[in-house]
Amino acid sequence: PASPLDIRPVTGRIGAEVHGLALSGDLDAATVQAIEAALVRHKVLFFRGQQHLDNAQHEALTALFGDPVAHPTVPVAEGSRYLLELDSKEGYAASSWHTDVTFLAAYPKASILRGITIPEAGGDTLWANGETAYDGLPEPLRQLVNTLWAVHSNDYDYAATLAAAGATAEASETAKERTLYHKSVFASTIYETEHPVVRVHPVSGQRSLLLGHFVKRFVGLSEADSARIFNILQDHITKPENTVRWRWQPGDVAFWDNRSTQHRAIADFGLQRRTLRRATVAGDVPVGIDG
Ligand code: SIN
Repeated sequence: PASPLDIRPVTGRIGAEVHGLALSGDLDAATVQAIEAALVRHKVLFFRGQQHLDNAQHEALTALFGDPVAHPTVPVAEGSRYLLELDSKEGYAASSWHTDVTFLAAYPKASILRGITIPEAGGDTLWANGETAYDGLPEPLRQLVNTLWAVHSNDYDYAATLAAAGATAEASETAKERTLYHKSVFASTIYETEHPVVRVHPVSGQRSLLLGHFVKRFVGLSEADSARIFNILQDHITKPENTVRWRWQPGDVAFWDNRSTQHRAIADFGLQRRTLRRATVAGDVPVGIDG
């Protein structure tokens, strides 16, 4: 049946804008189903003009798609039950490529991010499509990833990740500050888990690359070999053809399939304030190609 949604793709491979829908906790079942289907297909959906959502409505909306879960280590945003506050004032911007919370065995299936305070310019977010990344790998690399498992941990190091990617000294400095902040937040609990590098999507059956900045190393490989292979694969995932970039306005909502994507913020907004709130929906333990 035709979707009840007005869906307009933003790029050739990932991302679509949904027009004319006011998000709330009262969406009917057909609309919820259509959003779920569009999410699996387009990976990230954008909804402009959702200023009417407050924390309670954001949480009610999230509950339509499964069990809302709070972040395992970061305290919830003030006045909410399980929203995560991403506030540049706290020195925190998720400005390296990742999939949310992959350091847990069962990590969120989806995230719903609401723009509150947005810099006049800058602070965009990028998403990458892990499925087209997998499909585009040359055959020898595909054979390699089909057998690989990765160790994911929240005890990671932004500075090292950025240095490995050849980032500028200035970016590395910012990253170090963020790492310090991050370590103080995360110090209490360190999680570690192993995931297959190729995840089979539980709804579509499509294969995608599951990596991102929580990866410490690959099972059976040294940290040095892991870092080199990691960078080769991340470069495939994040090449421009696989990505979409969103220029935020206050009241925008981005809703992504966390089973088949990575994302990152762009930390180019200096001392301007940038605040977003994120809800996540519980997900299952990833299944690899061997079941
Ligand atoms: C996130 O990593 O969930 C937030 C991305 C952003 O701040 O743009």
